Amino acid sequence: MILENNGTFHLQGKNISYIIAVNSEGDPVHVYYGKKLKDRAYSAPAPRQLAMTAYSENNITLECVCQEYPSYGYNDLRKPAYSVKNVSGNCVSQLRYKGFRIKENFAPLIKGMPSVFVGDKSVQTLELTLADDIAGLTVVLSYTVFDEYDVILRSAEIINISNSDIELDSAYSASLDIAKGDYDLIYFPGAWLREREFTRCSITQGMKFDVSNARGISHCINPFIMVAEKNADEDKGGVYSFSLVYSGNHSSSVECDQYGNIRVQQGINPFMFKRTLGSGESFATPQCIVCYSDNGIGGISRELNDVYRENLCRSKWAHMDRPILINNWEATYFNFTEEKLISIAKQAKEVGVELFVLDDGWFGQRNDDFRGLGDWFVNTEKLPSGIDGLARRINEEGLKFGLWFEPEMVNPDSDLYRAHPDWAISVPGRVPALSRNQLILDLSRDDVCDYVINAVCSILKSANIEYVKWDMNRPMTDMPYEGYNHDYTLGFYKIMDAITGAFPDVLFEGCSSGGGRYDAGVLAYMPQIWTSDNSDAVARLKIQYSTSIGYPVSAISAHVTAVPNHQNGRVTSLKMRGDTAYAGVFGYELDITKMSGEEHEDIKRQIEVNKGLRTLMRTGDFYRILSPYETNYCSWEMVSKDKSEVFFYAARILSVGNTIEAKIRLKGLDADADYLDTATGKKYGGDELMYCGIEPEFETRDFDSYTMILKKID
Ligand code: DGJ
Repeated sequence: MILENNGTFHLQGKNISYIIAVNSEGDPVHVYYGKKLKDRAYSAPAPRQLAMTAYSENNITLECVCQEYPSYGYNDLRKPAYSVKNVSGNCVSQLRYKGFRIKENFAPLIKGMPSVFVGDKSVQTLELTLADDIAGLTVVLSYTVFDEYDVILRSAEIINISNSDIELDSAYSASLDIAKGDYDLIYFPGAWLREREFTRCSITQGMKFDVSNARGISHCINPFIMVAEKNADEDKGGVYSFSLVYSGNHSSSVECDQYGNIRVQQGINPFMFKRTLGSGESFATPQCIVCYSDNGIGGISRELNDVYRENLCRSKWAHMDRPILINNWEATYFNFTEEKLISIAKQAKEVGVELFVLDDGWFGQRNDDFRGLGDWFVNTEKLPSGIDGLARRINEEGLKFGLWFEPEMVNPDSDLYRAHPDWAISVPGRVPALSRNQLILDLSRDDVCDYVINAVCSILKSANIEYVKWDMNRPMTDMPYEGYNHDYTLGFYKIMDAITGAFPDVLFEGCSSGGGRYDAGVLAYMPQIWTSDNSDAVARLKIQYSTSIGYPVSAISAHVTAVPNHQNGRVTSLKMRGDTAYAGVFGYELDITKMSGEEHEDIKRQIEVNKGLRTLMRTGDFYRILSPYETNYCSWEMVSKDKSEVFFYAARILSVGNTIEAKIRLKGLDADADYLDTATGKKYGGDELMYCGIEPEFETRDFDSYTMILKKID
């Protein structure tokens, strides 16, 4: 709900209030963001001057004021939310309030980019119009609130209303000033095989953090951050979060000024970004989802889970159980025949797998990663029946058929590159850098996007393909101009709109050398994303634990793979690999034909369990209990919305001799109800499980896991 009172705007969500006021000079001032407040006559704080600051005629020092979308060069010298340069090179700007509009049941569609949609929710959007008459600039800030959620959707549109060009050098989607306090920054850096590592540090005076990525792909840093009160943990304390609905180069900036106030901004990375806005032209930022929870990190993540599952992902599969798949990549890599694939599918069917996915290597001369990308026609030497015939044979075995693509790329050794060398991103006179022996197609060009759309669509039309793995395997170099990465990202979204729109029944899975493009922008199109190429169950504890903070378990693709693990050589039990993968979109990626009869029986049991669990894992509330970043354990739990079903998981990483395990306390149950452990038949009280806890039974060995499936007794 949005309450407007004489230049004061009180935005209320389910449990939150966000208050904006216009001060005597027309500056849009940020008054409050946090736990819900009653509607009262709030107003901008009284003017205040401090030593060695710049101030206006009315004694207002914006440097000491929390603001909504700060400008640069007048009386706030902190980092601005945007920066512009006029024709004479002058960068000073000052936005003043001009007016507002409140739109009912409306959430903005951001031009060319994905965004959160209204669906069946009760939604209002406040548009604040600000202007700098001297610079010839209008900025429209958009704030969307939901009666049922605690998120605020923010974005900005910058319009040149002058008669000459304006250079836009940065434009954040959201800027939030948090008044002085004791806060930590939580962010998720990483690398290939080590994606999204939970990292927490103090925000102290004078610090400037630029949590940003300019690599085109984002293994190294995720576009999701939190600012948490010092004492906030999984279950309690105030936490703000910022998630960018964007798959290009991003920046989350946190600055703590000389008075201890904190400015947080999120949006397109200003590094190597520039836009020239001609007279009358505008620029729209991507959407930033800002969330506040008084219930700690867990409160944030359960809120984001609901928003992503209900109002971000457009795929019908967001609301459907995903088929349990087997992928041939780690079973065969490039070295397969049609018969080998069929033998994997046959065996997989016997144990209950539902979808067979053919990964890289099925097209052109793609017998290794040196060639073939771009040549999207089947290699009939490997697959004599073609994709159509193979899909039919897989279907005859009783499985759905899925296919891997990497459509944004080209190998120099490919027919596509030989025909269109200019389609790869490059700079005149320079030889572009290779990565995994490949170049990136120039998606800023309409003709290249059209090629990609047609190439993929014609294969999808040619056979019964019910799942697509959309891969993207290299960082971006040789960008021809500043701001190129944004144009590329718009091209990617154009392709996604066209292909997912044309094939609404196909289940799409995002991938980028594992989890290199794991963001809310991708999730708008694809309900699941390959989380990491590191599928070792112990490494996955950290990867899945931290990924689940910002993204729903229903998006976390998790496969049981062979041991020794292909990425780090670790040997873990089939049980632990399966138990860990249950907290995700479950599947297998190994040569099932080489496994023993006993292992097949174990897999059959795992699949039965997963079939019983997957609706809960897709729709429930996720609780993290013990962090592998802080302890020798990892524990998490999924609880159905009505608290009647529970999946509890605990892992002990290293075995400890002569010890007693500490009890683990479950969370989020009905304290007044009784629960049945479906494996042992033992009964527990909800209060007993939450307040007294249970002692997990670990085997005496490294890397062991323990699970319980509980059902409420009526
Ligand atoms: C990178 C992905 O992360 C892998 O799962 C696999 O699909 C390979 N690409 C294939 O080249």
